[in-house]
Amino acid sequence: MDAPSQSLNNVADQETFTVLVTGANSGLGFAICCRLIDEFLFSRPQSQALHILYTTRDGKKSEDTRVRLNAHLQNTLREANGKTMGISLLLEKRVKFEGVLVDLAQLVTVKALAQQLLQRRQKLDAVVWNAGIGGWTGTNWPKAIWTLLTDIIQASTWPTYQNSEIGTLAKQKGLATTEEKTPPLGQVFTANVFGHYMLTHWLSPLLDSDSRIVWVGSITGLPNFFSLSDLQCLRAHDAYESSKRLTDLLVLTSDLPSTAPFTQTFLPTPPSTPKPKMYLTHPGILATSIASVFFLLEPFMVAFFYLARWLGSPWHTVTAYKAAVSACFCVLAPAPQLEELEKRDGKGKWGSAVSVAGDERVARTETEGWGFCGKAGEVPSGSMTAKAGRHRGMKETGREEREEFEVLGREVWREMEALRVGWEGRLGKVGQEASEDF
Ligand SMILES: NC(=O)c1ccc[n+]([C@@H]2O[C@H](COP(=O)([O-])OP(=O)(O)OC[C@H]3O[C@@H](n4cnc5c(N)ncnc54)[C@H](OP(=O)(O)O)[C@@H]3O)[C@@H](O)[C@H]2O)c1
Repeated sequence: MDAPSQSLNNVADQETFTVLVTGANSGLGFAICCRLIDEFLFSRPQSQALHILYTTRDGKKSEDTRVRLNAHLQNTLREANGKTMGISLLLEKRVKFEGVLVDLAQLVTVKALAQQLLQRRQKLDAVVWNAGIGGWTGTNWPKAIWTLLTDIIQASTWPTYQNSEIGTLAKQKGLATTEEKTPPLGQVFTANVFGHYMLTHWLSPLLDSDSRIVWVGSITGLPNFFSLSDLQCLRAHDAYESSKRLTDLLVLTSDLPSTAPFTQTFLPTPPSTPKPKMYLTHPGILATSIASVFFLLEPFMVAFFYLARWLGSPWHTVTAYKAAVSACFCVLAPAPQLEELEKRDGKGKWGSAVSVAGDERVARTETEGWGFCGKAGEVPSGSMTAKAGRHRGMKETGREEREEFEVLGREVWREMEALRVGWEGRLGKVGQEASEDF
């Protein structure tokens, strides 16, 4: 693959805040990088610089992303300069972006990225696990039209008209193993969850107790899509929704004592040293290429999304920049604020929501079986999404459901750790050999 691309901005002699964002060449990932630049420049002291490491799958996408990120930065600087003459030079020096390559569905490349970053020994202040695929193969148009016309908010938030194949695998290339047959890895499972999971483990030496691991989930991961006996969803159609429920289960239970035997091997830290924290976010519903809608139909998709918002849906963020608000909040919010909120109310899913007029904000989001904050029956005061943003079939979370969620979360951690150990055995630990490009 081509060499990673790098901006020319200079961040020497400044305290650097480094963020790794996956899947940054389009949609939400690109917008997260743009929003991070804007929020960082105007909320952090002049003495701090931002270093964004963004991932793409090839060198051409990396270079294209660098050009577009630079255009965004220049635009932000022009606006700032309009307000305060001469400020842009000072600001420009505080941002650096750099492309790195990874295909999360190919574990050899995940390992190569980890190896490359480990060799630099540069602390990661935050990682944003955004990259993902839907795995859909088409649309059931009659059902889509009928449900969108008769039940627009529900149908455009929790669509039931996308077709997908069962059991699509991510065949692993470049494995040096003597095994005759390696265990299967589901394509959606690996791209959305397992590639990130392996990367987190391998990068753990670069993460300290202040580092944040921000996962991009979804509101579509309802419990019926996930089964522990089919962790990768290889035997059912809903691999995307299953992967997002799996993300909920992993992140929301990650601080519980009951999952500690597994989180300790996943993110090894010396005894009594706090681990980096995992945060769960979702971007609401936005128009991106993940839905693979035929380009002539895209304006209709966007129109339906706006209509849903005007009819009262808090989740139709529609544009990627607004949708990026929750992930950027989890990266940049001052530690006392974020930690206090999670300590006071409990751990939960941080969602991107909008008002009817389109003003975006971060909203605590209900997860079936966990509630808003892991406490049965409790709704955070002032929640604006408690009624409007609920799936019609969502069950109340009582004590029993909350307990079941935790038990399932623990089993999920057990399975994921077993899978990780197996694949680490096949791929070899990072740090044992020189990094190679792929
Ligand atoms: N759109 C929504 O309404 C919505 C709602 C809830 C959650 N989300 C989540 O938001 C995240 C971003 O999605 P999006 O809507 O912005 O879609 P998108 O525009 O299609 O962006 C997906 C990004 O992930 C990258 N990617 C896909 N497979 C990858 C792989 N195997 N290895 C490395 N990178 C890979 C893509 O790179 P390529 O261009 O190379 O494919 C692209 O940069 C996903 O996790 C998605 O589940 C989206």
